[in-house]
Amino acid sequence: VHHDCSSLYVRAVTEEDLEEIYRIETEGFDNPYPLQYLALLASLTDYYLVAECAGKVVGFIIAVKVDLDICHVLSIAVEKSYRRRGVGSILLQSVLHLCCEDGARAAMLEVAHTNYAAQSFYTVNDFHYTTVLPHYYGSGRHAIIMASTRPC
Ligand SMILES: CC(C)(COP(=O)(O)OP(=O)(O)OC[C@H]1O[C@@H](n2cnc3c(N)ncnc32)[C@H](O)[C@@H]1OP(=O)(O)O)[C@@H](O)C(=O)NCCC(=O)NCCS
Repeated sequence: VHHDCSSLYVRAVTEEDLEEIYRIETEGFDNPYPLQYLALLASLTDYYLVAECAGKVVGFIIAVKVDLDICHVLSIAVEKSYRRRGVGSILLQSVLHLCCEDGARAAMLEVAHTNYAAQSFYTVNDFHYTTVLPHYYGSGRHAIIMASTRPC
């Protein structure tokens, strides 16, 4: 089942969103961040957004600014039945825009070497491959670092 979202709305996270975010995180990742960590991040970073479709949270993104001018994306996920509708791209571009307004000049993230869907998604959104972090997610589970030098 695919859902259309005629009224997509991107806004800052609130505490009430956390359980829904955790549900989407769990659906999107084999090794999800714990709820407590997703909650802690909400108090640590301003670059934490949710996408709402008709009042329902359907996706989120979390980033932090590091080294003054780099936007590091920590997590992004869209609920399965709302994927391939542009929600992820809007979340990514929105967070990059916020980061850039605060001085970011580049963006980077880690992605599992087997996560081809996400790699395509990032490539379409102007990221390129840089290096590999061997065994970053556990034995035999490598991370690829992707970066964008013109994120804004
Ligand atoms: C990665 C993710 C956030 C993308 O969200 P989304 O809302 O589906 O992304 P968009 O609709 O904006 O996709 C934009 C483009 O990226 C590419 N893309 C997205 N998903 C893709 C897939 N599964 N396979 C191939 N290309 C894909 C396509 O070019 C797509 O445009 P199109 O649909 O017109 O072909 C989503 O698939 C997801 O939540 N995955 C699980 C969690 C995850 O892997 N997160 C990233 C970890 S680093």
